[in-house]
Amino acid sequence: MGKVIAVANQKGGVGKTTTTINLAASLAILEYKVLVIDSDPQANATSGLGVRISDKDSSLYDCLINDVNAREVIVATDTPSLSLLPSHIGLAGAEIELISKIQREFILKKIIDAIKNDFDFIFIDCLPSLGLLTVNALTAADSVVVPVQCEYFALEGLGKLMNTVRLVKGQLNPRLDIEGILLSMYDSRLRLAKEVVEEARKYFGERVFQTIIHRNSRISEAPGEGKPVALYDANGKGAINFFNLAAEILKKNNLPSNGADRKIAGISVEPEIEDNSAIE
Ligand SMILES: Nc1ncnc2c1ncn2[C@@H]1O[C@H](COP(=O)(O)OP(=O)(O)OP(=O)(O)O)[C@@H](O)[C@H]1O
Ligand SMILES: [Mg+2]
Repeated sequence: MGKVIAVANQKGGVGKTTTTINLAASLAILEYKVLVIDSDPQANATSGLGVRISDKDSSLYDCLINDVNAREVIVATDTPSLSLLPSHIGLAGAEIELISKIQREFILKKIIDAIKNDFDFIFIDCLPSLGLLTVNALTAADSVVVPVQCEYFALEGLGKLMNTVRLVKGQLNPRLDIEGILLSMYDSRLRLAKEVVEEARKYFGERVFQTIIHRNSRISEAPGEGKPVALYDANGKGAINFFNLAAEILKKNNLPSNGADRKIAGISVEPEIEDNSAIE
């Protein structure tokens, strides 16, 4: 049964989609079966994984509002073992349309429960709001990853998010756990970035991931090519950062690392073919 992880922060542009795409892809490359659910009308995770859907194609909107079976909507991506339940701008209307539905907070959970056995991990890329779509994601999730940008005002608003997590846990989803707070877009040249790391560790302690995602131009270029950074710049620092994060999450969940350490060292996971041609 797959673990469902929501990637959420109501603050915009903090690295939610970048984390979703690259963490999901890293786990898929480590041979876990992974699904990304794009729950943002901006559809950045959809385009960032190289998937284009037309107005006629079904998307998460149709699963939420028109009861379309998710298995009919899920598509493969260029990353082996990584699938996508795509989004579309039309999802913007879902927030209002969901209000009148019975058990409106549980619609996404029902969709996910029906496909949970097909995957080892399911990531939900949330939109920058604490509205009904994010509440649906938190209600469906086992845990939440909270990306935080190493910038001014980074920790502002985190209290509100943590309060929402507490409310959802208390009223809708007792399983909900914090997988971790992820410090992202870290620039080692900035004193401010180091201060944000110290502050975050002071307030949130163990809940902050050891892994820090550095600011890296390859990470920002990769979605333009419709690829996770691990395919765009396989042995670069950005890819290694996300393999580190994947390894940390696997360890925390008592799951095998599947060669993550070799990926982190920049060595191909593929088994080397022994060359016996010289042996007579
Ligand atoms: N580690 C990084 N290094 C360089 N650029 C990054 C990094 N992480 C994210 N970015 C860039 O920062 C911008 C915002 O990132 P992203 O889209 O992941 O944030 P988001 O939280 O999903 O935004 P939104 O709230 O709009 O959904 C993007 O242009 C992305 O390419
Ligand atoms: Mg996003």
